[in-house]
Order: sequence, then C-alpha cells, then structure tokens
Amino acid sequence: MAQRSSSAVPCEAPVLAVCFLACVATGLELSVNNHAADFSLTTMSGPAVSLSCLVQNSSQPEELLWYRGAGKVDLKDGNKVNISNICISPVTESDNGVTFTCKLARDQSVQVSVTMDVQFPPQLTGEESLQTEEEKDVTLTCQTKSNPQAQTMWYKNNIILTLQQNRHQLYQTSEVSQLSIYKVQNSDNGTYTCVVNSTLGEGRKDFHLIVEAKTPVFPKEAVI
Ligand SMILES: *[C@@H]1O[C@H](CO)[C@@H](O)[C@H](O)[C@H]1NC(C)=O
Ligand SMILES: *[C@@H]1O[C@H](CO)[C@@H](O)[C@H](O)[C@H]1NC(C)=O
Ligand SMILES: *[C@@H]1O[C@H](CO)[C@@H](O)[C@H](O)[C@H]1NC(C)=O
Ligand SMILES: *[C@@H]1O[C@H](CO)[C@@H](O)[C@H](O)[C@H]1NC(C)=O
Repeated sequence: MAQRSSSAVPCEAPVLAVCFLACVATGLELSVNNHAADFSLTTMSGPAVSLSCLVQNSSQPEELLWYRGAGKVDLKDGNKVNISNICISPVTESDNGVTFTCKLARDQSVQVSVTMDVQFPPQLTGEESLQTEEEKDVTLTCQTKSNPQAQTMWYKNNIILTLQQNRHQLYQTSEVSQLSIYKVQNSDNGTYTCVVNSTLGEGRKDFHLIVEAKTPVFPKEAVI
C-alpha cells in the first residue's frame, strides 16, 4: 500500500502524486492533533499524551484504525467512527522512536503518523565497590541511555582520566560506556566516576576499585 509520506522517501514528487490519487479516491483527509501530515511529537517521559484522529470532509460515517508500530491498537466501540482518541499513559522511554498511525479503515493509504520523540535525562546513579587482584583485568560499565544523547566522561579520584594505551580501553555506544583496565596495578586503586551529561541533566556513578596484592597460588611452605 502506498504511504502518504515517510521520512525515508528520497523524493517528494511521487509521494504527492500518490496522495493526490488516494485523497481524490476517498475525498477525505485525516488529521492527528490538527496535523494533516506526518509529524514528530517531542515530549518528556512521564506525563500522558493523547492523540486525537479526526476525519475531515466525510459525507458518511468513517471507521478509523490506530496502529502502534505494526500492531493494531484495540479501540472501544464509540471511539472508532469519525474521531478516535488514544492515550499513551504514562509515556515511557520505550515509546521513544515508536510511530503511532491513524488510518482510514476503508482506504488504509489515507493515514497520518506520529513519531514519538521521548526525552529523558541520564538515569545513571549509585556506586559500586570492586575488589580485584593485581594483574587481573577489570571492566566498569555505565548505562548512558538518554535523549537527547549525552556525553560521557570518566574521572579517577575526581580528575579526568587519561587513557593509557594498551592498559585502558573505552567502549562506547549510545546506551553504554565501558572502561576496561588490563593487568591492574597497585596505582590503579581508587575511585572511578562515570559522568553522563545531557542538556536535561547529569547522571553519575562511582566505582571504588580496590586493588589487592596478588595471592600466591600455593603457600610457600607447601612447596618445600
Ligand atoms: C475539505 O473541506 C474544506 C472546506 O469545506 C475544503 O477547503 C478542503 O479543500 C476540503 N478538503 C478535501 C481533501 O476535500
Ligand atoms: C460521522 O460523520 C458523518 C458525515 O459527516 C455523519 O453522517 C455521521 O453521523 C458521523 N457519525 C458519528 C458517529 O459521529
Ligand atoms: C584504594 O581505593 C579505595 C577506594 O577508592 C580507597 O578507599 C582506598 O583508600 C585506596 N587504597 C589505597 C592503598 O590507596
Ligand atoms: C554538563 O554540561 C553543561 C553544559 O554543557 C556544563 O555546564 C557542565 O559543566 C557539564 N557537567 C559536567 C559534569 O561535565
């Protein structure tokens, strides 16, 4: 089925032509929260969001459908004809990037999509103590998920950590920041802090790394 519009469409002319045909075929238009075309809705996580889909210029009762992604939303009778409201309550991080689409049941090419842009600050908190032996490897992991995307910085004893080649390795994605220390030395002992900073706020986590002297595998006496 033809889509009326999509952010992935490279060129507008064919889309407009399709819309023109679809609109003429049914003589109808949909609007969601007063938008007649697809749009993105920016909101904070938490409060509820309601989406109201309306048929315009109908000459007969028109049934509406709602989809969350590819899944059909169950609508109650009385919330299907000419106008249909759905409520996303509460809006959560998992709604970020999800598309809600209102469609005309009779001609599903007539549709309006809303893509959710759910913003939330970095969620990182807490502290953790790790004990490790000299010569072992250790990895410290921080969850850095946030929207808008955050910047992550690592500190050691409150000073920006200088990465040493071959000893430190940083692995970062949009969701996680991992600091690995190879062959831990006595001097690595201390408190490491991961600071995740976005325009909405800051998250941080402390890792108390306690380096213990290497214990011999066998007590000396037993060897003799
Ligand atoms: C809907 O009706 C309005 C006014 O009644 C008109 O201006 C508009 O062109 C119509 N839209 C469609 C898609 O028929
Ligand atoms: C839907 O709109 C049509 C055309 O305007 C109208 O005839 C019908 O009564 C409406 N139905 C409801 C349930 O509002
Ligand atoms: C090792 O680090 C821990 C945690 O930061 C700290 O409490 C402790 O005093 C340190 N020990 C040494 C010998 O520096
Ligand atoms: C977080 O970012 C703001 C603005 O970009 C800056 O003022 C603040 O110092 C940053 N905080 C940290 C811990 O980096």
